[in-house]
Amino acid sequence: MSRLHDFMEKRSFALLFGILGVVSIGGLVEIAPLFYIDSTIEKVEGMRPYSPLELAGRDIYVREGCYLCHSQMIRPLRDEIERYGHYSLAAESMYDHPFQWSSKRTGPDVARVGGKYSDEWHVGHLSAPRSLVPDSVMPPYKFLLETKLDYARYDRNLLANKRLGVPYTDEMVALAISDIETQVDPDADDFDGFMARYPKAVVRNFDGTDEITEMDAIIAYMQMLGTLVDFDEYQAETHGNER
Ligand code: HEC
Repeated sequence: MSRLHDFMEKRSFALLFGILGVVSIGGLVEIAPLFYIDSTIEKVEGMRPYSPLELAGRDIYVREGCYLCHSQMIRPLRDEIERYGHYSLAAESMYDHPFQWSSKRTGPDVARVGGKYSDEWHVGHLSAPRSLVPDSVMPPYKFLLETKLDYARYDRNLLANKRLGVPYTDEMVALAISDIETQVDPDADDFDGFMARYPKAVVRNFDGTDEITEMDAIIAYMQMLGTLVDFDEYQAETHGNER
């Protein structure tokens, strides 16, 4: 038996520190890089912060607990990809505070529901799910159509997100309230400026009424989910050989 082995085996504290030393190597290898890399999230072309109206819709999604029945996390499994589309990337929820991955699917995953249905479908479905899907167990949210969106101080919500690290510019914060009005009106004066701030945003009167309602906000949010990243391009660039 070697002298070192003999020494260690007879002194429990020496052995204890020896064990801690060995175990901490594993910890250091995993933890130390986090101190000098900027982000653990791979940057993906197309991701941008939510427009103020989309963010308001997201707030309603959280308030109403939609996440209790819907996930926004497509797993890299074949059946999921065939049903929902490309699996979710970390970058797709990098501006979410908190993220809406959820852990339960009473209804389908909604990570890529943007563009799947018309606005009218969403209005009808959210107002009375069983009028469109007879077996649905989703509760009705008709009041969203009757509730005016309270956005008079919405610049504050952008500011709060900015403080959490979402890259809203000062201009975006300052224009938050008018940007909400622009997104429901394709004829608005600042249409071009808005599109430059929030590329690929959908601009239209979502709920079909003259008021800006909570229904407008939640549909604006539904219609953008999963639409920002061009996955054909993404696959060609990063995973050319996959699948
Ligand atoms: C009690 C569970 C439950 C809650 C809460 C719930 N849903 Fe659903 N949702 C369902 C079920 C079940 C379906 C599938 C049947 C249907 O289409 O109605 C569904 C379907 C959907 C669909 C269609 C998805 C697709 O790809 O066909 C959308 C969009 C949707 N829900 C949005 C919402 C929003 C927004 C909220 C919150 C305001 C919400 N849901 C709250 C259960 C729920």
